[in-house]
Amino acid sequence: MSEGIEMPKDFLWGGAVAAHQLEGGWQEGKKGVSIADVMTAGSNGVARKVTDGVKDGEIYPNHWGNDFYHMYPEDIKLFAEMGLKCFRTSIAWTRIFPNGDEEEPNEAGLKFYDDMFDKCLKYNIQPVITLSHFEIPYHLVKEYGGWRNRKMIDFFDHFAEVCFRRYKDKVKYWMTFNEINNQIDFRDPHPLLQDSGLEMTDEDNWEEVMLQAAHYEFVASAKAVQLAHKINPEMQVGSMIAMCPVYPLTSKPQDIMKAERAMQYRYFYGDVQALGFYPEWMEKYRDRKGYDLDITNADLATIKAGTVDYVGFSYYMSFTTKAHDGETHFDFDEHNDLVSNPTVPKTDWGWQIDSVGLRYGMNWMTTRWHKPLFIVENGFGAHDKLEADKTIHDDYRISYFHDHILEMEKAVKEDGIDLIGYTPWGFIDLISASTGEMKKRYGMIYVDQDDEGNGSKNRYKKDSFYWFKKVIESNGKDLGTDIQK
Ligand code: BG6
Repeated sequence: MSEGIEMPKDFLWGGAVAAHQLEGGWQEGKKGVSIADVMTAGSNGVARKVTDGVKDGEIYPNHWGNDFYHMYPEDIKLFAEMGLKCFRTSIAWTRIFPNGDEEEPNEAGLKFYDDMFDKCLKYNIQPVITLSHFEIPYHLVKEYGGWRNRKMIDFFDHFAEVCFRRYKDKVKYWMTFNEINNQIDFRDPHPLLQDSGLEMTDEDNWEEVMLQAAHYEFVASAKAVQLAHKINPEMQVGSMIAMCPVYPLTSKPQDIMKAERAMQYRYFYGDVQALGFYPEWMEKYRDRKGYDLDITNADLATIKAGTVDYVGFSYYMSFTTKAHDGETHFDFDEHNDLVSNPTVPKTDWGWQIDSVGLRYGMNWMTTRWHKPLFIVENGFGAHDKLEADKTIHDDYRISYFHDHILEMEKAVKEDGIDLIGYTPWGFIDLISASTGEMKKRYGMIYVDQDDEGNGSKNRYKKDSFYWFKKVIESNGKDLGTDIQK
């Protein structure tokens, strides 16, 4: 045994994925086309393209994922062997409503999730479900302009209601929108498309469109919370925030103010969903920028009445920023205002590795929102090597998890954070959301498949598989890095 702290009884150790990144079977069971189905393969530093429909000659990695759609019965057995108590995935909207605007749901899609959830429950693994994880029906993007359109609120809530009613006895924990605050980087077309299905034109003010879309999402999310409670008061509905704390580069007061504004800007989404109102500075900001958003009093009442039960969040890295010379407003433009933190290392993809940032973020959120937290993503994207004897020695990943889990445990034990669970991201290798690569691997389970979808698709246990199994068995107490296979 070494150095860990035992977590509270009933702590949910698990693993996290998203439907479009692992299921494949993109045309099976009458599934429709989602935004992820028209995103091509990119690579480290080469952005994915979004094509106007599926085009011959392009590579679309989400079409095959890691083939979980066909392989889930065996995969879930492996999850059980690892000792998982919960499995976070999403319901692909396009399996339930292929176009997104139908009245009647697609029974084949509903049945797929029924069967898959039953398989999990047979092993005492509870499904934890995100409703919208970067997989908006493409039809809603083309026909309605995605979340720039108020009609999306009804489409989403219809989808949510169908899922709540169907799975009310199988799923307790839900989340509405994955990393809703990712789109704060509005100059990067990917978050806008992935989160909200927003295609921008030259006439658009991107930030204004993004803020409008986020507002409709807040209303839809708040309605979903209320719907869920009506259907089954036991159901818990959370937000899902990408927590990357933003540090000032120096102790210069201007840098501190810049970082403070960055935190306000990145996390006002959390304020609205957890506290039920827009922060004061945001109203001033919108006025100063001359934005004229469609926000009604009825919307604000809905938002107030539908605050989330808990805050789900991802944590991969921290950010660092500094003020520009002579700045007075300290507005944060994520695309241009991040600088490298010289005190922390980085992954091969340039993500800053900072385990203390996890504890910092947990404290920051609890002090501000006073809601239970749920770490629904955390992980280390790295190049792995499959040895001739089919072993994978990923000590770098074990070391990343060791450090982060220890900080998480201190946050619970020493800081009093109310934490529901911990689900490491992509614990079975899958398609990267930002690059479309397979070789950016997060898994504790290796999937033998390359970036083009070639390979046996066989699953192999990495060293981290055995390590995490031991962590779960000891309920977080044994973080020793020795492995027993
Ligand atoms: C989060 C997303 O942004 O980070 C996941 O919720 C994503 O969908 C994960 O896969 C890791 O990012 P990436 O780009 O390395 O796959």
